[in-house]
Amino acid sequence: MEKKKYLLNESDLPKSWYNINADIPVEPKPVLHPETLEPVTPDFLSQIFPMGLIEQEVSTDRYIPIPDQVREIYKLWRPTPLVRARQLELALGTPAHIYFKNESVSPSGSHKPNTAVPQAFYNKVEGVDSLTTETGAGQWGSALCMAGSFFDINVEVYMVKVSYSQKPYRRLMMESFGGEVYSSPSDRTAYGRAVLAEVPDTPGTLGMAISEAVEAAVTSEGKKKYSLGSVLNHVLTHQSVIGEETLKQMDLAGEYPDVVIGCVGGGSNFGGIAYPFLRENLLDGQKTRLLAVEPAATPSLTRGAYAFDYGDTARMAPVLKMCTLGHTFVPAPLHAGGLRYHGMSASISALYKEGYIEAVAVPQLGTFEAGLLFSRTEGIIPAPETAHAVRVAIDEALEAKELGEERVIVFNLSGHGYFDLAAYQEYLGGALQNYKHPQQAIDEALKHLPKVAV
Ligand SMILES: Cc1ncc(COP(=O)(O)O)c(C=O)c1O
Repeated sequence: MEKKKYLLNESDLPKSWYNINADIPVEPKPVLHPETLEPVTPDFLSQIFPMGLIEQEVSTDRYIPIPDQVREIYKLWRPTPLVRARQLELALGTPAHIYFKNESVSPSGSHKPNTAVPQAFYNKVEGVDSLTTETGAGQWGSALCMAGSFFDINVEVYMVKVSYSQKPYRRLMMESFGGEVYSSPSDRTAYGRAVLAEVPDTPGTLGMAISEAVEAAVTSEGKKKYSLGSVLNHVLTHQSVIGEETLKQMDLAGEYPDVVIGCVGGGSNFGGIAYPFLRENLLDGQKTRLLAVEPAATPSLTRGAYAFDYGDTARMAPVLKMCTLGHTFVPAPLHAGGLRYHGMSASISALYKEGYIEAVAVPQLGTFEAGLLFSRTEGIIPAPETAHAVRVAIDEALEAKELGEERVIVFNLSGHGYFDLAAYQEYLGGALQNYKHPQQAIDEALKHLPKVAV
């Protein structure tokens, strides 16, 4: 019998997160205050985040211990399985070995609880009783609402308008966990009201929803803070449990990846699986290729500028040096809502620019085609975001077939698509189209980047 699943015990659950700041071979760039454009102070950040997370954001410790309370909750679904996709390999007729790390087995269906749980925990420790956040596809909002319910924290979610109407069951899931969900832009914030007055029929963007959630936190009285599901270093650090487990599981499989693949919105599931392998490349001489996949409609790595930019549309969030399409970017209403962000994690941007990781942009139709082939061979319908990683894993396997190579491919199955079936329905009905972000729109948006001296 051929082995399919590589499973770890609860006792194998990582005891520490891996922090890329310790080993990143590129000069760190300062995080700037959105008004002064000077380096931020902990005072400013502490209006938004608890100190426990701010410390992790700037820490250069290689390993950060995972609190016992967080490990106990991780055990509900971790360690997650690493699966050899043998039926997909057969269907492709490829000599490549394809493995996927199945993060879709978390209770809310994606990798997002890996950071939602510790974020709720560190907020609770500091007496925070309410969190605000944004969500695109609803995976992040669901994860934070679940974590909030574990720690008795109220969660207020600003859900990008186009997803709010595309994904009613995600909203209901958030409400089932006790969360409050608002279509963004909403009339609950000054920023939301201003956008609605100017463009009443806007589809909304992640950048706008972040602005509303930040405003709701900083203008509140009482113990309300903001929580971000991607982009920042502490988020990628929490996600490193994915890669740490995968390293152990590849050991069980007796193989080592030639290429590790993940889709990128703000970069957290890709950083989560890829950074422990990058550490092995940097410190142990391994040569694994690390490949980030983005939509052709939101090509921040492959076509954006590498520049300082605001994290949100209303210019309230910190300014980071990153690959960006400009904070005023309004993406096409593609179904991979979690990939419709204008920017990218600072470390992924820097590592891409310096050649430590690769990136590719793929059009939407091919991702649904790949998602369906994966469903029909491996039985899991991937989230539209995840289908981007599936697409490129398949492309790598087909290339290996052409070259007659036994390439070892690992990809992160960041989430399932059971709440995204309307997207598959549209694809199956021939109603979806490809979007390529026009160069003119990029050039226009990049005119609004902040003018930074550093
Ligand atoms: C299933 C899934 N995969 C990937 C992403 C992209 O986010 P990130 O780049 O932070 O992993 C999202 C974001 O919502 C998601 O829901």
